[in-house]
Amino acid sequence: MSTIESILKETRSFPPSDDFRRKAQISGMEAYNALCEQADDHYLSFWGDLARELIAWKKPFSRVLDDSNAPFFKWFDDGVLNVSYNCLDRHLPLNANKIALIFEADDGEVTRVTYSELHRRVCQFANGLKSLGVAKGDRVVIYMPMVIEAIVAMQACARIGAIHSVVFGGFSAGALRDRVQDAGAKVVITANEGLRGGKTVALKATTDEAFELGGCESVSSVVVYQRTNNGASKWTEGRDVWWHKLIEGQAEECEPEWVNAEDPLFILYTSGSTGKPKGIQHSTAGFLLGALNSFRWIFDYKPNDVYWCTADVGWITGHSYITYGPLGHGATQVIFEGVPTYPDASRFWRMIEKHKVSIFYTAPTAIRSLIKLGADLPAKYDLSSLRVLGTVGEPINPEAWMWYYEVVGGGRCPIVDTWWQTETGSAMIAPTPGAVPTKPGSCTLPLPGIMADIVDESGAPVEPGKGGFLVIKKPFPSLVRTIWGDPDRFRKTYFPDEFEGKYYLAGDSAHRDESGYFWIMGRIDDVLNVSGHRLGTMEIESALVANPLVAEAAVVGKPHDIKGEAVVAFVVLKGSRPSGDEARKVADNLKQWVAHEIGKIAQPDEIRFGENLPKTRSGKIMRRLLRSLARGEEIVQDVSTLENPQILAQLQEAAN
Ligand code: PRX
Repeated sequence: MSTIESILKETRSFPPSDDFRRKAQISGMEAYNALCEQADDHYLSFWGDLARELIAWKKPFSRVLDDSNAPFFKWFDDGVLNVSYNCLDRHLPLNANKIALIFEADDGEVTRVTYSELHRRVCQFANGLKSLGVAKGDRVVIYMPMVIEAIVAMQACARIGAIHSVVFGGFSAGALRDRVQDAGAKVVITANEGLRGGKTVALKATTDEAFELGGCESVSSVVVYQRTNNGASKWTEGRDVWWHKLIEGQAEECEPEWVNAEDPLFILYTSGSTGKPKGIQHSTAGFLLGALNSFRWIFDYKPNDVYWCTADVGWITGHSYITYGPLGHGATQVIFEGVPTYPDASRFWRMIEKHKVSIFYTAPTAIRSLIKLGADLPAKYDLSSLRVLGTVGEPINPEAWMWYYEVVGGGRCPIVDTWWQTETGSAMIAPTPGAVPTKPGSCTLPLPGIMADIVDESGAPVEPGKGGFLVIKKPFPSLVRTIWGDPDRFRKTYFPDEFEGKYYLAGDSAHRDESGYFWIMGRIDDVLNVSGHRLGTMEIESALVANPLVAEAAVVGKPHDIKGEAVVAFVVLKGSRPSGDEARKVADNLKQWVAHEIGKIAQPDEIRFGENLPKTRSGKIMRRLLRSLARGEEIVQDVSTLENPQILAQLQEAAN
């Protein structure tokens, strides 16, 4: 049964236990409803009060929202603050010796860093960045493994008002170059190598390759953290500087740069429906407020929790729920360099036992792969420290949900399925676990203050059970401010004229059940979700057609047991259509090509060769038909316009 079919049949509901509810921050549905009503009735003071409660301001704001230039909203816009001060300095009077980070390296070595130590490291590195000429508003690209220094680098940028743009360490030289160029970065921070699953990742060599591609002229320095003993293969004098040399002799204090609430905190690139990734620009105060408030509500965070989010800081989850939300609350959190399956599929469970993790946040794809590799393994570990389990990034199928709930959580821990996006900056639809009963496969109800709805093409709300577009009807503090350098694309993509520019269009379809619960059905654009990673089909197509052998390519998704979605590429070669061993060989080469052009996460699972692609009379590729072919479904579409119906037979089989 497909995920969608089983989700549609789901009727189970799990309220929190009495004990959990009694101790929760938002305790019971009455408390949840009261907050929603408060937001409904007094929207601005609802957010204004939260901003005063949760953020330490250098200078308070006098106005909550300026919507005079919608959809370019401004929140708290005359307030002054610093995010790194909020994440570090303000905890020092009472919690200097509290553990901030429990870092577990790929090889299992554990390093603990207190808040005062983290503060010292961030200040020293911030001073180092200043010595390289980095100043407020400059862009800094961070291309790092999941180590303590990645967080130090982000916090150091925030401390001096520089705008960071983290690029996931699995991205290729080309993808890194594109992001460096688009952001006009002044500095790139990387490591000589990363370590994942016992293997090294050649980050510095890839950075060098990115520079060789051209387009990185804005960069004056590359800071290299030495993660392994292997040194660096190449060294560009005058540009490259070792992290440890940069911080040598730097002062251990660094006065925060006090910035305006609306100054950008970071840019994070994500895929859209064109070939060019979008630089999602987030603000300082609004983003911080979203991260802080949602963190405490969705995880029912308490100061003695040990929290672990398995994401990488290369994605938004790592920004909101590793670097900013938890540190802003002075939480103790585990950060992990490795992968869930190394040295074996018990890694997560062993780590939960070892570090006594109480809140665990991961992706459905990890859960599914760990079920496959050892559904019985969690039972071998003491997981009794757990009290809340979270998921993010893609729909979770009820089967995986139930396993997570029963086997990992012992039937005791609420599952918080959190729906949100790079653009929303913080969780939007998710249970507050001490109040909202959960249902397997549903992200449940919007957080108080988030005016989510499902509408039809005209913007009218759809009835329960009917699918439609997921929208958010009022601006909220952590919403993307613009697309870096492309405000027009921002407006057209997210506040389209169809809804009179009033609603934020998320790009997902969803439906609601009789009790108002949201069930996410998938993307409405040409974006795939492969293992929780967002990939634009156009990006993969552009990579394929850049190969000298390829004349034309079309990419679609098909359901996959573990990854959620798999990438299927339909390819027309410039030469004749290959078959047999030759086809396998070319398919393998093309897969490697895409891995090299974008990154391994974008590599097609299947390649199918045709003499042509199915097109309409006007020459448009019939994507729906390709989707049916990829899924092996019976073709019910009208194919009478096809010039050569024979190609359908050709496209039915994968070359590999
Ligand atoms: O389609 C939705 C899916 O992931 C998309 C956002 O991807 P990204 O910006 O990379 O952020 C991922 C981490 C927040 C959404 O448009 N998505 C995210 N969370 C869920 C989800 N789909 C279903 N259920 C979720 N909980």
